[in-house]
Amino acid sequence: MDSSSSGRGAAPREVALVIDGAAELATSLGRTPRRGAELGAIEVLRAPLVAIDAGRIVAVGPRESLRAQFVGREELDARGGTLVPGFVDAHTHPVFATTREDEFELRTRGATYVEIAAAGGGIVSTVRGVRAASQGDLEQALELHLARFLEHGTTTVEAKSGYGLSVADELKCLRAIAAVRQRSALDIAPTFLGAHDYPLEHRGDKPVYVAQVRDQMLPAVAAEGLAEYCDVFAESIAFSLADARSILERARGLGLGLRLHVDQLTPLGGAELAAELGAASADHLEHVSARGIERLRDSGVVAVLCPLVPLYLRQDSEAPARRMIDAGVAIALSTDFNPGSCYLPSMPEVASWAALRYRMSAAECLTAATLNAACSVGRGELTGTLEAGKRADVLVLDVPNHRHLVYELGRNPVRTVVAGGRIVWTRHYTPPACDERRAARDHV
Ligand code: NIG
Ligand code: FE
Repeated sequence: MDSSSSGRGAAPREVALVIDGAAELATSLGRTPRRGAELGAIEVLRAPLVAIDAGRIVAVGPRESLRAQFVGREELDARGGTLVPGFVDAHTHPVFATTREDEFELRTRGATYVEIAAAGGGIVSTVRGVRAASQGDLEQALELHLARFLEHGTTTVEAKSGYGLSVADELKCLRAIAAVRQRSALDIAPTFLGAHDYPLEHRGDKPVYVAQVRDQMLPAVAAEGLAEYCDVFAESIAFSLADARSILERARGLGLGLRLHVDQLTPLGGAELAAELGAASADHLEHVSARGIERLRDSGVVAVLCPLVPLYLRQDSEAPARRMIDAGVAIALSTDFNPGSCYLPSMPEVASWAALRYRMSAAECLTAATLNAACSVGRGELTGTLEAGKRADVLVLDVPNHRHLVYELGRNPVRTVVAGGRIVWTRHYTPPACDERRAARDHV
């Protein structure tokens, strides 16, 4: 871990913010994805101190050695809690104006996601709402969703379009993201997902829609600089691997990074395609093949898993996360926040489910929800760990140690969110009994 250059005895350096009083700090280290046994090899410090200035972390280390070196213009007392890096949610669909609780209820009565989509529900029902909404309406909805991400500790979020499905409506969604991005406390990585589904007007001439995505939407998106990534839903009920390839090769030619929804409902071989194309991420992977796992292992692709989606869709299939980790695939976690298959903005909840369903340790979940996710959105240099030089995205969790992150199901442990060096969210009321300095005595 890094510490400051100013020596003992010298006057303390004044910095913008000092976070003191935590019981523990837990973080991965580095700027590249952690694989295999390294996924759970995190750094854990007792009684830490973090010094922050000009939006960046200046020093991280034991308070014993750092306290005399730094004084904060603002001092944040972490009250016996635990400090971790801000979460990075590497897969979300937050630009929509209407919700689908009716479909949720149909599923609880036994209908499947595919049946509901075939009956005219699913993605196209959200498309109706987005097409009826103005860019301003979408900005408002997006801001509400981002506020919910933030209060659950997400400081960087990947955000897809994909509920417009026409040139004008996809641009409207991406312009809404661009506008909100200017004023948001969160760092947003925008992704163009015109190939999310076929709109109703192109169900009879699918190749025409694929050509529209590739030859009209993509060049317009690139010309306006509206997206960092292009994604395709490659699936038997959506786009074929051949269509995905033709769209993604065009996207790559236009300078965009690549992401893919693959092997979610059927084993189509999408992981292999992601590896071959050199994608930044391959997402879902509930039905990834043994060959797909090998290809991912040998590539730079990050496997972005969404553990809450099968639960939400009442499907038995689950990504073979443990096998992928043990094989050496780089794993990240995400919510897949969207109105259909996972209406949940909480990375702590995702981490708990990854522990329970994937048999991941708390340390593995932490790395997958921070550093590895940051790498999958091209931000491994910038964020994802608590180290000097990185952007100061820091959470104060009101838990006595990082293991509580997965152990406590259903409670938001986030008390304070620091993003880009600023305190951007604090829980209004913390009962005195929740001061972890008291609780910590039972845990050390
Ligand atoms: O990631 N798989 C495709 N897209 C979303 C579902 C979107 C929706 O149902 O609205 C997903 O699960
Ligand atoms: Fe998705």
